Order: sequence, then C-alpha cells, then structure tokens
Amino acid sequence: MRMAETDKKATLQFEGKTVELPIMSPTAGPDVIDIRKLYAQGDVFTYDPGFTSTASCESTITFIDGDKGELLYRGYPIDQLAGQSNYIEVCYLLLYGELPDKAQFEEFSYRITRHTMVHEQMHNFFRGFRRDAHPMATMVGVVGAMSAFYHDSTDVNDEWQREVAAIRMVAKMPTIAAMAYKYSVGQPFVYPRNDLDYASNFLNMCFSVPAEPYKIEPALARAMDRIFTLHADHEQNASTSTVRLAGSSGANPFACIAAGIACLWGPAHGGANQAALEMLRTIGTVDKIPEYVARAKDKNDPFRLMGFGHRVYKNFDPRAKVMKESADEVLDLLGIHNNETLKVAKELERIALEDEYFIEKKLYPNVDFYSGIILEAMGFPTAMFTPIFALSRTVGWIAQWKEMIGDKNQKIGRPRQLYVGEAARDYVDIAKR
Ligand code: ACO
Repeated sequence: MRMAETDKKATLQFEGKTVELPIMSPTAGPDVIDIRKLYAQGDVFTYDPGFTSTASCESTITFIDGDKGELLYRGYPIDQLAGQSNYIEVCYLLLYGELPDKAQFEEFSYRITRHTMVHEQMHNFFRGFRRDAHPMATMVGVVGAMSAFYHDSTDVNDEWQREVAAIRMVAKMPTIAAMAYKYSVGQPFVYPRNDLDYASNFLNMCFSVPAEPYKIEPALARAMDRIFTLHADHEQNASTSTVRLAGSSGANPFACIAAGIACLWGPAHGGANQAALEMLRTIGTVDKIPEYVARAKDKNDPFRLMGFGHRVYKNFDPRAKVMKESADEVLDLLGIHNNETLKVAKELERIALEDEYFIEKKLYPNVDFYSGIILEAMGFPTAMFTPIFALSRTVGWIAQWKEMIGDKNQKIGRPRQLYVGEAARDYVDIAKR
C-alpha cells in the first residue's frame, strides 16, 4: 500500500477558530481532507448523509473513476478482465492483490472446488423456509446461519480462520444460491460437481434434474462467468460498506456477509436487476416508452427508470457496456431474435440518452439494465437475479472485510448525528398529558 500522507494542509476557519487539516493524496481520484481530529480540535462534526463526500477507509482493491467511466480491480480495467480473464482468477486477484501464476491459479481453483459442498444439516435448515420465500430471504438466513455450521472459521483474530472463511464463502455461495432456487421451484437439491468450472457448476446445480442429463452450453457458462466477474467488486458501495460496518465490531465473517446480502437486496442497489426487468416487462412495447420516460421525469411521481443512474458513474457504467455485448451474444446463441424486452430496453436506452433530463442529470444505464435480459434468457426467474449478484459480489465483500481487519486505522464504525429533536424536557405523568 502506498502512503497517502502529504505535506498539504486545508485550513478551516469558523466562529473565530482555525483548524488545520492534513490532506491525503490517493493513487487516483481527488485529494482527501483528513477530518479525524476535527471534533477534538474544532468541536464540530461534519454532515454528509449518504457519504457523498466522505471516504470511510483506505483501500487498495477497487477504483472507480465515475467521470471517465472507469472501473479497475487492483489496477486492471474491468473490460480486460471480463474479456480475457475468468472469475476464479479475478477472485484470486481481489483477495490477494496480484494475478496468480499457473501453479497459484491451480492451487486456488482446487481449494475453491473442494469447498463447494455445504454441511448436510444445512439441507434441513433450508427446508424450514416456505417454498414461496424470495431466494434473497433464504440467502440472508442461510448465509447468516453458516456461523452456526462452521465454528472453526469464525475467529476474526485468527488469520488462518479468516482465510478459510473466505474460501468457504466464495466456494459455497453458488451452492447456496442454487439451493435457494431449487427449493423455491420444488426440485431436489443438486450437489456440486468437482469436474466442472465455477460457472458451469452453478448452471448445473440450478438446471439439472435427476430425471435427465443437463447439457452445459460452454458459451452460456462463459457468459455466466462474465456476469460474475462484472459484479465481483465495486469499492465502497452500500452493501460493501454494510459488510465493513458490521465487521468493524468484530462480528464473524458469515454474519457480516449476511448483512451485505440484506443491504444488496434493496431496489436502489442489487435489487435493481430484478426491478429493471420487471419494469421493461411492464412497459411491454416500444410505443409505451414515452409515457414511462415522462413519469420518470415527473417530480411528483415516485417512478424511476430502474437500471438507470449511479452514485459514482456520471459518464457511463463500463460494466453495462460489456453486459450489453454479452446480452446480444447470449440471445444470438439461444436463437432469441425478436425479444420484445430487449427491443424495449434498447429503445428506452436510446430515448433516455437523447433526453435533456437524463443528459443533464448524467443518468446512464447501469450494470443492472442488461444483466436481467441475459439471466432471463438463460432460464433464471427474476427472483434469482439478485441472489446471482450476491454470489458474484461475495468475493468483493470478503476481500474488503479482510482488508478492513488488517487495517491499522480500523475502528468500530460509529457515525455521529445532527440532532434536531426535542431539547431535554421533564417527564409528564400520563394523567396530566
Ligand atoms: N430515473 C429517473 N430519475 C433519476 C433516476 C432514475 N433512475 N436516478 C436518479 N434520478 C434523478 C433523481 O430524481 C435526482 O433528481 P433531482 O436532482 O431533480 O432531485 C437526480 O437524478 C439525482 O439522483 P439521486 O437519487 O440523488 O442520486 P443518487 O446518487 O443518490 O442515486 C441511484 C443513485 C440510487 C442508483 C439512483 O440513480 C436510482 O435510484 N436508480 C434506479 C435504481 C438502480 O438502477 N439502481 C442500481 C444502481 S447500480 C447497482 O447497485 C449495481
């Protein structure tokens, strides 16, 4: 990790006080004013709901340049990784900081493959859920419950246990997501297969049935792998920050990842892929698009174009570009040429990108806009879109969690507040109110 300290200072003057604040300089991105001593020296807090101007940690893992539309994992551009690498290699890169050599790749791949089965007792745990539960609800519960099944990897102060927990989670998440799916459709669970690569194994666990063999189409497995890669990490987004915040108290890694999954579920975050496809289906036909674009622009209407906009990307989301190409490839491969949803998506994108409202607010399609189209074409129901996002993002969450545990500046996360409630007042007996 390079040192971010500089000799530069920011001077803050208010109410006759002067506070000098150090300025830190990142590898890339704007300088950062270090306000850690502000309260002690100036007796003031800062106010920043949504953390739009606040760095919550130092990190070496992922970098986004929202103006350029750039996303780097450990310095490597996402389009290069999506085009030339594979998810297991990307997992290694995110967890350990460098691309693996051949031996390292094989050893890591072997370890992941040998940890894909879940404790047999977990099958019973799954069976306690209602069949119609949303798979994300099941995943939050099951992943949280992993700490009840894998006691030997919950000590956050033990480096070896942290490593085992990381491997276990990357390895078992596809199994858990596939089980959540199988349970919801009333089919038997399918055990992982060690002869298959990560993406093929996931497809097999989702779509094979005991009654007949399932042929894994390599091009679909490749598209699946690319979806995993595109979602693997995204610096300090809401769910990652949730994982870090949960972990800052010393909570075990399974509990922290369960917290991340819960946060990801929301439609403003990972839940947007399900919401985007449902929106495209609701719009239904190209001629209805203007009506929905008008609604999205109407301040008095809560409707938003799902899959559009991003807190950080203000030019384009580089993941969306790759995802759009993948959508074309997958639909071509499956011989789906007249897909009405894709037509609506493409036309909606065209209209929105030419519209003054969207141009002015720098709203572009995000990764979730096209991912649902691919996943639906592959045969996944919409309820599975966010669990697939969760399984892909697990490696990012765990890499960020491990980084946080090793960070000498790490403290329990504890924001302050701008209190605007009642001042202190005396209790009034109920008879006198
Ligand atoms: N449709 C219509 N208007 C929008 C949209 C949208 N999708 N997104 C933002 N806007 C408008 C807002 O109304 C706001 O207008 P105003 O300045 O007149 O008040 C302005 O653009 C800025 O929007 P904010 O919500 O303040 O921006 P923020 O950074 O907080 O939100 C978010 C980003 C949550 C992603 C938002 O764009 C959104 O809700 N998009 C739809 C949901 C979605 O696709 N989420 C997935 C994000 S990517 C991911 O998590 C993988």
